[in-house]
Amino acid sequence: MRPVSLFARNALRATSASSSSSSAWLAASSSSSARRAALPSTRWFSIKAEAASDFTQKALDASRLSVTETQSPKPLSEPETLVFGKEFTDHMLSVEWTIEDGWLDPKITPYQNLSLDPATCVFHYAFECFEGMKAYKDKDGRVRLFRPDKNMARLNGSAARIALPTFEPTSLIELIGKLTKLDARFIPQKRDYSLYLRPTLIGTQKTLGVGAPGSALLYVIASPVGPYYPTGFKAVSLEATDYAVRAWPGGVGDKKLGANYAPCIVPQTQAASRGYQQNLWLFGDEEYVTEVGTMNMFVVIRDKQSGVKELVTAPLDGTILEGVTRDSILTLARERLVPEGWKVTERKYTMKELDEASREGRLVEAFGAGTAAIVSPVRTIAWKGRHVDCGLKETEESGETAARIRDWIEAIQYGEEEHEWSVVVD
Ligand SMILES: Cc1ncc(COP(=O)(O)O)c(C=O)c1O
Repeated sequence: MRPVSLFARNALRATSASSSSSSAWLAASSSSSARRAALPSTRWFSIKAEAASDFTQKALDASRLSVTETQSPKPLSEPETLVFGKEFTDHMLSVEWTIEDGWLDPKITPYQNLSLDPATCVFHYAFECFEGMKAYKDKDGRVRLFRPDKNMARLNGSAARIALPTFEPTSLIELIGKLTKLDARFIPQKRDYSLYLRPTLIGTQKTLGVGAPGSALLYVIASPVGPYYPTGFKAVSLEATDYAVRAWPGGVGDKKLGANYAPCIVPQTQAASRGYQQNLWLFGDEEYVTEVGTMNMFVVIRDKQSGVKELVTAPLDGTILEGVTRDSILTLARERLVPEGWKVTERKYTMKELDEASREGRLVEAFGAGTAAIVSPVRTIAWKGRHVDCGLKETEESGETAARIRDWIEAIQYGEEEHEWSVVVD
């Protein structure tokens, strides 16, 4: 259960009581008024410890799920026509939370609009965090999730950072499993196709007062998606962004908050206007390489003296999103590349180091890593008015390492290789 300090709890109660009016909130507050009435020493605005003595929150309980199936199932699109994030399945999962009662009963309902008061805190102060994960259909038609525990842990970390409630990870995984099974007909049974899942958590309290939300909504929507590279790998060219930073020490760049994404669009569109598919985020006077667009960045550098190949990615110092793909790549590389004589390192590296390695012919490969594409090979990086060549031949769209890693991860995701990371939905 989310640790809530006594002071925070009472502050929350005060704001919630004065300003929220959603039906869930009213229902919750009337049941807790009854509880308070039974405790004569408890006062609504008290800051005394005993004021919190009736504070019991319900955990997220998957067994209380209700399912209302759609009466008008959507027609399925031809898989080849799917565009990322444009089409959604028949149903959605939602669970409300209130400071008084905790998680209310989960519901699967037909996919529908949300109705929120214009004063709802998510619209004003960005109380929003989300996840991006996928469900896959294996050759036997079973639905599989890939490392859902990692997404749950990250969502809880994001939620806690912005004063939203946390939840029991296994319950949400079970509920997501129910949603994906119900909408399984939307997942094409083909390699490279999947169901993109978007768990989202928002503050729903109706108030312009800035404070921890007294109510929240967790919902999950699902979108069938096709291959990231419909015609095979396509290496991208990057522009190193030197006039804006994505994240900074002590900030929230390591959390998956919606507020982290909107400010990244202008640098990305500026890079696009100059002919680059993505921008590369640098940090500090040293120009440390951090992330690429919305992916973690990996490079392969050959050591000057020993010739040993090193797979390098930036360390989790608070400015890097802890990618599930990043972790999977590091784990598999340590298992499979280190025995081949490689070094696998999480360390800081700079554009200067890449430029030097490139000019000496030692920058073997560079690629982004994330759920959407698994890996995205990089051809060049525009930096300080020149192009840093990332090791691909003109005729190549991917280096060997990126291609091997993609194969390893896909084999696990589609259940071709039995692995604990791939969770079959019962
Ligand atoms: C900023 C950022 N970095 C990295 C990633 C990759 O994370 P994952 O591998 O979990 O998809 C994402 C994914 O959305 C991201 O938004």
